[in-house]
Amino acid sequence: MWILSKQWSQAHSELETLILERTAELQRLSQRLLKVQDEERRKIARDLHDSTGQTLAALRISISSLEANFREDPATLALVADVAQLVDQAIEEIRTMSYLLHPPLLDEVGFACAAEWYIDGFAKRSGINIKADIANSCGRLPKKVEIALFRVLQESLTNVHRHSGASEANIRFQHEAEAVTLEIRDFGKGIPEERLRLLHGLSAETGVGLAGMHERLHELNGRLEIESDGCGTSMRATVPLH
Ligand SMILES: Nc1ncnc2c1ncn2[C@@H]1O[C@H](COP(=O)(O)OP(=O)(O)OP(=O)(O)O)[C@@H](O)[C@H]1O
Ligand SMILES: [Mg+2]
Repeated sequence: MWILSKQWSQAHSELETLILERTAELQRLSQRLLKVQDEERRKIARDLHDSTGQTLAALRISISSLEANFREDPATLALVADVAQLVDQAIEEIRTMSYLLHPPLLDEVGFACAAEWYIDGFAKRSGINIKADIANSCGRLPKKVEIALFRVLQESLTNVHRHSGASEANIRFQHEAEAVTLEIRDFGKGIPEERLRLLHGLSAETGVGLAGMHERLHELNGRLEIESDGCGTSMRATVPLH
């Protein structure tokens, strides 16, 4: 009996070790996937901007000279003006798409400025009224932290737009010596209780968005805290700095 129980407890602890190893492996894999995704986005953003964007810019210049040639022919001139407008629109779309994939601002001026730019554009596009309080004078953060925070901001705002029905949201970014904190709070309908329980347990029911945020922050020893009730939802990401 004693031997059986000893064997059982040994098998149990071997199984536990195996589960821990497998979990760590999966975590490494998902972190690697997120890194590859970031690199891929950066590459597509650059290609879009440098190739399609440049081709369209050249096309725009050619159309301007066409316009000069058709001054005497109002019907054709109107057609050319329509084409010019479409090209302008395509240039704008390519620029927005490439910025969203990987904002060049993030590399150049850092998280705080890129966040302000992104929030501004998001508020205009979505019609959601956003109050932002972004600490902006504390210098740059490590690159990995800046990308993680930016992706948390993007995903949280996309979720606010897709799921909350809110017309107002607040964003706060604090940069202190020990840690940075980014909080996105909306005043929408909140996450249903049942769903929230699943999210806190991080079960398979979690969407890709929240799982990605958790993973990015976990890699930096940070955390994501979710609070939600009938008055709205708050996502708070904290990353220690040392
Ligand atoms: N701000 C919010 N307000 C209300 N519900 C939310 C909010 N954010 C998230 N949720 C709920 O949490 C769920 C999980 O979010 P998550 O971002 O992981 O997945 P998703 O947005 O459904 O899909 P995706 O994988 O494309 O991001 C959502 O489906 C939604 O039910
Ligand atoms: Mg989402």
